[in-house]
Amino acid sequence: MNKILVTGGAGFIGSNFIHYLLERYDNCHITNVDLLTYAGNLDNLINISNDPRYQFIKADIVDFNVISNLISQGFDAIINFAAESHVDRSIEAPGIFVRTNVLGTQSLLEAARRYGVKKFVQVSTDEVYGSLGQEGYFTEAASLNPSSPYSASKTAADHLVLAYGHTFGLPVNVTRCSNNYGPYQFPEKLIPLMITNTLADKPLPVYGDGMNVRDWLHVNDHCCAIDIVMRKAKPGEIYNIGGNNERTNIDIVKTILRQLNKPESLIKFVQDRPGHDRRYAIDSSKIKQDLGWEPVYTFDCGMAETIEWYYTNVDWWKKIKSGEYMNYYNRMYGKDLGEPPVALLEVFE
Ligand code: NAD
Ligand code: DAU
Repeated sequence: MNKILVTGGAGFIGSNFIHYLLERYDNCHITNVDLLTYAGNLDNLINISNDPRYQFIKADIVDFNVISNLISQGFDAIINFAAESHVDRSIEAPGIFVRTNVLGTQSLLEAARRYGVKKFVQVSTDEVYGSLGQEGYFTEAASLNPSSPYSASKTAADHLVLAYGHTFGLPVNVTRCSNNYGPYQFPEKLIPLMITNTLADKPLPVYGDGMNVRDWLHVNDHCCAIDIVMRKAKPGEIYNIGGNNERTNIDIVKTILRQLNKPESLIKFVQDRPGHDRRYAIDSSKIKQDLGWEPVYTFDCGMAETIEWYYTNVDWWKKIKSGEYMNYYNRMYGKDLGEPPVALLEVFE
């Protein structure tokens, strides 16, 4: 597995995955294909941009001609991270999620089968299983029950990937991971949004009662799992990946405030996300038993390191928190947080 095509490598997990591979394998060659949507950021890869083992191509995974041309050059593996990934945006505008997550995945699969790619890994999500009650965990055998346009589009893509394996014999795997945190995460997601707002002394918008539960995993542990799946997994297998770190959202927010020594009065309960999944929790025993994967980060260390990263890399997120981001922020939160757009803009300048 030396010649690897990473899609969506300018996003949060994809860029961490490229760093992960380059740090560990001298003889790998990585091509990163990314459309550079609002979530794609070449700053995430600035320190490796001249590495001879790495090349970047700006392209849309939906564009079959371009993708097929590229894949015809021959790759050992394709790791598909490219996606529209934010649930709230999928509620605002579902169409682009179907385009990228479903049609884009199918375009990659079709090119992969034509040109004999040896492994196709679909980076999917625990959200395909839907919401859990207070008890229990998702195993790979759980039924798929997505609730948002985002998770429905990821579920459709999972089905296509498995169908290409079943029908055409393409060597595929699907990984379904829980919530990631770590460096380079776009600050629309809970943890980087709360850290960066706290650093700017701005309100922290918590949806509903703040008691929804997510299972948090450090992004490096996710990258390690994907690398193992790419190299060792039998074709056709699905693997759940989780951190066994269940936390309520309000608990996460209070942890951040404590670490940054800021008051809880910054917390602002706002209108709930429509169709908000109550709890996700992953049973990762299959990947541990079959492939020997184990997470190495404790949540406390991983969070402390992550908060430190956003504290140290203010320039990285200040650049993002402008322009299109502020339009989105105002649409999402302006009414509930009761601040006029201009005031919000000034905060991050
Ligand atoms: P992200 O939004 O940070 O990055 C997505 C990347 O895909 C961006 O660089 C974007 O420019 C690129 N992209 C979007 N549309 C494209 C297109 N048409 N063609 C080419 N590139 C395109 O997402 P992320 O959080 O890094 O998630 C990566 C993958 O992991 C997604 O498939 C997501 O469903 C999955 N996942 C994420 C998490 C999480 O907690 N973030 C957890 C489990 C699974
Ligand atoms: O479970 C894996 C999924 O995790 C991935 O597939 C998605 O790509 C990723 O975005 C993430 O989805 P979530 O919806 O769980 O993540 P998000 O960071 O958007 O929200 C986490 C929780 O925090 C969720 O219960 C909603 C809540 N939340 C989020 C935001 C942005 C708030 O209370 N306030 C907020 O402002």
